[in-house]
This record gives sequence, structure tokens and C-alpha cells, in this order.
Amino acid sequence: MARRAQFTTRLGVIAATVGSAVGLGNVWRFPYEAGVNGGGAFLLVYLLFILAIGIPVITAEFIIGRSARANVYGAFKRLPGSRAWNFIGLNGILAAILILSFYSVVAGWTAEYFLDSLTGFGGASSTAELHSRFGNFTASWKSVVWTLIFLGVNFFILRRGVQKGIERMSNMMMPLLFAILLLFAFNSLTLPSAAQGLEFLFTPDFSQLTPTVWLGAMGQAFFSLSIGLGCLITYSGYFKQQTKLLGTAVTTAGLDTLVAILSGIIIFPAVFSFGESPAAGPKLVFEVLPSIFQGMTLGRLWSPLFFLLLLLASLTSTISMAEIAIAYFSEERKMSRSSATALTIGICGVLGTLCALSFGPLGEFTICGMTIFNLFDFVSSTVLLPLGGIFISLYVGFVLKRSAVDAQLQGVPAAVVGAVLFCLRFVAPICITLIFLSGLGLF
Ligand code: TRP
Repeated sequence: MARRAQFTTRLGVIAATVGSAVGLGNVWRFPYEAGVNGGGAFLLVYLLFILAIGIPVITAEFIIGRSARANVYGAFKRLPGSRAWNFIGLNGILAAILILSFYSVVAGWTAEYFLDSLTGFGGASSTAELHSRFGNFTASWKSVVWTLIFLGVNFFILRRGVQKGIERMSNMMMPLLFAILLLFAFNSLTLPSAAQGLEFLFTPDFSQLTPTVWLGAMGQAFFSLSIGLGCLITYSGYFKQQTKLLGTAVTTAGLDTLVAILSGIIIFPAVFSFGESPAAGPKLVFEVLPSIFQGMTLGRLWSPLFFLLLLLASLTSTISMAEIAIAYFSEERKMSRSSATALTIGICGVLGTLCALSFGPLGEFTICGMTIFNLFDFVSSTVLLPLGGIFISLYVGFVLKRSAVDAQLQGVPAAVVGAVLFCLRFVAPICITLIFLSGLGLF
């Protein structure tokens, strides 16, 4: 078999993994989920999940990926254990396709906002005007076109393969995004109601801790860290033997959380200063951010730059999702890289179109009270990712031999390995199951 590709540098590994983790999940989804779920209480629970479940599950995916050096389905075929574990792979591929479909719609909005901001949003300046502008745009055919263009760009990058496509892009993008987020955060702190915004984000109101908040925070942690569907299994198959898995897991989780919190620091002061509601849902960021930019010196410059960076951050995330399915089709189904890429992007093009239309013509079409867009998001983030998380944890906790785990975690003190394994055996599976059942209202 041909040698598999590998990421070339240490920076490349971090940039690609963080590039996968950091994306719309941090800048778009985190603020709106926090907004809907009560702010501070949500953040607190979210941080708990990152520590107790996130870091151990990232590490588990890395261990599986680098031991097997295969796509998410093939990994379980090669590693010890019953064939039933292969289902983790199928769950992952399905979830990746669903997420990629709705994610591309939002990435398309970002592309439109990049262009629209170059002309100052057609002169719209009040929040009411921006509000109706967003509504009109998402309901129009333009949003479908952007979804498809965005997927097309993914196709061209992915066809080029791991090193040239993925690694090179991530290296350039991530540091820039970080710098600009910091700048915006400082700017938001000078807004009139900044204190109120920060209080909303950082002061937990424990009465708000309902099962829905726990479920939402758990789904968000999985989504934001790119865990539960084998994305990091796929990527770590491209890591070198020297790459430190636990260190990379901690760095990834840390930077990802930092970007989410920075986004909160940007958004919430603005939400309160411009009289918006923090609970506006998926449209939150798109309606609030332009208002901030317009108040900034050189506003015309910042908003295109921001949306462009967000678009690029989305790209590094979507290529990581698509890679899951592409690696599967090419390694297990023996397709060429080009056909595997075309098939993956093609399926997402059809599903993505349905998601985009659910803000317009298909807006009335609901399943269990959710539009297609919301259904895809809910089923993948809140159901399939945590489900994958349970089984990935159990697999590394109980099926993989301790010596195999140690071989991947060389240099990590035994007590720390023990703690990670404890989280994987007990904390993660039990917490996820309980939250899942109570969030779904089953007890
Ligand atoms: N984590 C990315 C974000 O926050 C989205 C993402 C990329 C993802 N790959 C994933 C989510 C794999 C779940 C699983 O934008």
C-alpha cells in the first residue's frame, strides 16, 4: 500500500488541528448557543465539558488515529476488537455529511457578508435595517448559490490532498484570525454597555441550569472541538510518530476555547449596546457584528477583513469534515481521490441546498418542529457526536490494550495517563448518557 501522507511540520499539525476546531462553531455557534442558554451558566458548564470530556476524547481520537493510520471506518477494522466498533466510523461519516451540509450554508452567508460589507451593507446602518437585510438575503436564491460555491472551493482544495491543500492553508490563516479577534475584543470593551455584556457572559446564574442548557453545552463542546465523529482520528493518521498527542490535545482545546470566549467578548457587549436580544439564535452574529463594525474607526476596512477570515476559518473546518468521508471512500471503497471528493461534495451540495432553502421556500417544512437546517444541526451535534463520543471513549478505555495506549502517549506520566483513562472509561460515557437522556426529556 502506498505510504500515507503526513503533515510535515509541528506547526502544520497544530495549525491543521486547531484549524479544524476553530471555525463557525466558535464565532457563530458559541455566542448564539450561549445567548439562548443563559450566558454565564452555559459558559461554566461548557468549560467543564472541555476539561472532563473534551480533552480526553480528543486524546482518544488521536490514539486511535495514529495507531491505525487509516480512515475512521478502516481504523476500527485494523485495530483489535469486534467488528461492531466499525459502526463508530459509519456514525462519523453520516454526521460529517450532515454537518458539512448545514455548515456550508452559514459559510455561504459569510461569503455574502464579505462582499456586502465592501459596499457598506448597501447603506443599511440601523439594527432594524440590518435585520431585514439578513432576512431577505437568507430567504433568497443567493444563499443557495453561495452554499454551492463554497462547497466548490472545498472540492478544489481537497482534491489536492493533505499537505498541499490542508496544511498550507491552515498555516497562513490561523495566526491572522487570532490577531483580528483580539483587536475586535478590545474594541468591544469600549462600547457603552460593555459591562452588561461581560456580566451576561461571565456571571453564572445557577437557576438557569436546566437539562437543555447541559445538553446544549455538551453538543457545543463536541461541535467546537471537532470530536465525536472521527475527524481527529482521520487527521491524527497524518501525524508523525514524534507528535505529542496529549500536548496537542491540550493546545487544541485551549486555543479553541480562547477563540470562543473572545467571540463572546466581541458579541455580547455589542448585543447590549445596540439593544439586541442575546437569544436571537443563528442570526445573532450576522445582525450584531455589522453594527459593531460600523461604529469602529475604519469600519469599512474591518468588516470585510473579518468576514474573509471567518470564511477561511470555516474552510479549514469544512475540509477536515469532508476529509473524513473522502478518506473513507478512497481507502475503503477504492475510489480515486478525485471521485471520492466529488462524491462527498456532491451529496453535501444536494443536502446543503435543502438546508439553505429552509430559510426561504422550505421555511414552513418542519420535522419534529425543526426546519431541515435546524434538524441537521440538532441530530448531528446533539445526538450523533455525543453518541460517537461515548463509543470512542469506551473503545480506548476498555478495548485497546494499556500498552497500545502507552505507546501513543510516550513521555506522559503514568498518573496522567491513568486520569485520562478514568475519564474515558467512566466520566465521559456516564455523563454523556445522563445528559443525553435528561436533555431529551427521558427522565
Ligand atoms: N469544530 C468546527 C467548528 O467549530 C466544526 C467541525 C470541523 C466539526 N470538523 C468537525 C464539528 C468534526 C464536529 C466534528 O467550526
